Amino acid sequence: MTTVLVTGGAGYVGSHNVMALINSGFNVVIFDNLELGHIEIVEVLKKVSASGKVIDFIEGNLKSFDDINSVFNKHNIDAVVHFAAYSQVAESVKDPQKYYFNNVYGTLNLLKAMMEHNVYRIVFSSTAATYGEPEYVPIDEKHPQNPINPYGRTKLMIENIMDDYDRAYGLKSVRLRYFNVAGADSNSRIGEWHNPETHLIPNILKSTFGSDKSFKMFGTDYNTKDGTCIRDYVNVEDLAQAHILALKYLLNGGETSFYNLGTNEGSSVKEVFSACEAVTNKKIKLEVLGRREGDPAALVANNQKAALKLGWIPKKTLTDSVTSAYNWEKELDKNYKY
Ligand code: UFG
Repeated sequence: MTTVLVTGGAGYVGSHNVMALINSGFNVVIFDNLELGHIEIVEVLKKVSASGKVIDFIEGNLKSFDDINSVFNKHNIDAVVHFAAYSQVAESVKDPQKYYFNNVYGTLNLLKAMMEHNVYRIVFSSTAATYGEPEYVPIDEKHPQNPINPYGRTKLMIENIMDDYDRAYGLKSVRLRYFNVAGADSNSRIGEWHNPETHLIPNILKSTFGSDKSFKMFGTDYNTKDGTCIRDYVNVEDLAQAHILALKYLLNGGETSFYNLGTNEGSSVKEVFSACEAVTNKKIKLEVLGRREGDPAALVANNQKAALKLGWIPKKTLTDSVTSAYNWEKELDKNYKY
């Protein structure tokens, strides 16, 4: 039985991957410091895996080599899927040290502990933010990587470190560059849970809880079809399947590689807003504000490489993602007062 260590497994993308790994028959060890992840999510995952596939949850911090090393002393890990990271662009500009220490130094500790225990396979959660301001869309993997903020730079540095470690030590990595992750578990057991929430879909949906709240739209004067920013919203369950495929590829002896995870399709903020009104069947209060600093007009993935090499075809639509996100928001509102 293959045992996979999932760092950041109590967070949004990480927890949906744990769910998919369990369903695909892997044993999972979750490592998370619970700063942004939630123990309630871990409890749900443990319950789901009544079969015993979540074999352990270990609370610890990647900035401590001893914390992460002890995981490898305790369990026979075959491969790692690495999500644990800070991911707020604006915060990374204000406090880059926080990002470089956590994301880069934390990953260095993880890679050191892996190699000391002869673990040489890792799937890494990278981002479209490594590309920076797009020179063309859809963005393929040949697009230059010139990140424009410290968050994107931490992820690019880690990709570069992984290439150096492959050349020197034979570490094999698959780096998955996510576009805009959306949606929740189809059965509403887990979902996106940030505090404060900055992402578009949960923010629109949250404004339907309580009559006084309005949704704030940042900028309607972009050079796009309707003046609002275009993004490529990829469903979190589809995304999890890409990680399973990447992991299997590495376990079968695959070489280091990297893929965009998106849908090839862009949706504007106004289109997402309309999709939310349609799914919730509510008229949502809208406040139009100026542009948010650092938002590029359009980011859309070319996902052909992942289709060709990994066989990954995302299946869910924007409406599917908004529907599962809404069901999850209702769960959050009812069961986890936030
Ligand atoms: N937006 C609003 N109102 C809100 C929230 C967002 O109008 O309350 C707009 C933004 O201005 C943007 C779009 O909705 O035009 C999407 O914004 P998100 O914050 O949901 O997502 P981003 O595209 O800014 O960020 C995503 C990931 C980041 C990653 C980045 C790469 O969430 O982790 O893509 O560019 F770094």
